[in-house]
Amino acid sequence: MNFDLHHVRLFSPCPRGLERALAEELAALGAKEIAPLEGGVAYGGDRAVCYRVNLSSRIASRVLWQIAEVAYRDEQDVYEAAYDVPWHAWFALQCKIRVNVAATRCPLKSLDYVTLRIKDAICDRFRAEQGERPDVDTRAPDVRIHAFLDARRLTLYLDTSGEPLFKRGLRTVTGEAPVRENLAAGILRLIGWTPDVPLLDPMCGSGTFLLEAAQIALNVPAGLRRSFAFEKLAFHDRGAWQRVRREAESRIRRTLPAPIHGADVDAAAVRAAAANLRSAGLSAAVRLTQADVLELAPPQPPGLLVTNPPYAMRLGERDALAAFYPRLGDALKARFAGWTAYLLTADLRLPQLIRLTPSRRIPLFNGALECRLFEFRIVKGKMRKK
Ligand SMILES: C[S@@+](CC[C@H](N)C(=O)[O-])C[C@H]1O[C@@H](n2cnc3c(N)ncnc32)[C@H](O)[C@@H]1O
Repeated sequence: MNFDLHHVRLFSPCPRGLERALAEELAALGAKEIAPLEGGVAYGGDRAVCYRVNLSSRIASRVLWQIAEVAYRDEQDVYEAAYDVPWHAWFALQCKIRVNVAATRCPLKSLDYVTLRIKDAICDRFRAEQGERPDVDTRAPDVRIHAFLDARRLTLYLDTSGEPLFKRGLRTVTGEAPVRENLAAGILRLIGWTPDVPLLDPMCGSGTFLLEAAQIALNVPAGLRRSFAFEKLAFHDRGAWQRVRREAESRIRRTLPAPIHGADVDAAAVRAAAANLRSAGLSAAVRLTQADVLELAPPQPPGLLVTNPPYAMRLGERDALAAFYPRLGDALKARFAGWTAYLLTADLRLPQLIRLTPSRRIPLFNGALECRLFEFRIVKGKMRKK
């Protein structure tokens, strides 16, 4: 089969709320015809764009390569559309497969049955072409096939990423309730942080914001330490991939324009963040301390504070937090004048509890958990909520 590697339709899902931030990032990576949708961005490109987005996007969760799009009415149409794809030209019989189905407004009764029919069609087509069928492995597949159904159309994709891209192949120790890597990176872009601005996460946990910020500041590609599913697909060209990697690696910087600071009250969290930075080779980029945010002396000069404070749905008690938040508001007012603070939380009571007036509230999702990113411009005097 002749792959058209120059005109490829791609789709990248991302955390909801970050579609526009991802669209900007994709444009910088060479994508064309970029269309932000709910929960992801559709775009066009070529094989090199697919490689670059996998390697360097900090916000995309995956890069899906569109291989078919057809109208359907029933399960038989879905089966036939899937059978029509020359799967044997896309990947080898030895690859273990997994089929994922997602849908909005789909009239079919059971998505499990749709998944089964697509899997049957792939196996039947392989049997017809090569006399054997590939095995299914839902836990550690070599090739993931994604199907998306809306009311009338079925789109089939090959997943070129494999493990989701927010798994950077970096973090070794996770703390409690970590924020997803691509959400942290997306937030840093949303708030307009640039590496020349001092950054502080005073409740850093396992250090996700710090790791993402250090990689952004040093221009380290997000996927430098991991492998990708496209390495097992038939269109893969190792030479072309090495060129994309070398080009991205040549832009890695050695020094930071401004310091990145992290702190946590919990010694185990500080150890976890330190271990994660060390294993990523980023220890020198971040100044870590063990401290209570209520007593922390802010670094100078002021910059952006971004953090994901504990919240009751997942950590601690609601009452304890109801006592902590007003004190956090007081500490920010007393010592952080000149800073802009961004607090990501699933606890929508936060502005009331902290008793400060947010200048922005941005809806976001950490996995399935609905959150808000609250912006507080910290000035001395007059920002206190009655
Ligand atoms: C939701 S977790 C942060 C998770 C982090 N964003 C990550 O990705 O791993 C909240 C963190 O706040 C820390 N913390 C709670 N109270 C604190 C305080 N008074 N001062 C500093 N850190 C505190 C906890 O130890 C915990 O690590």
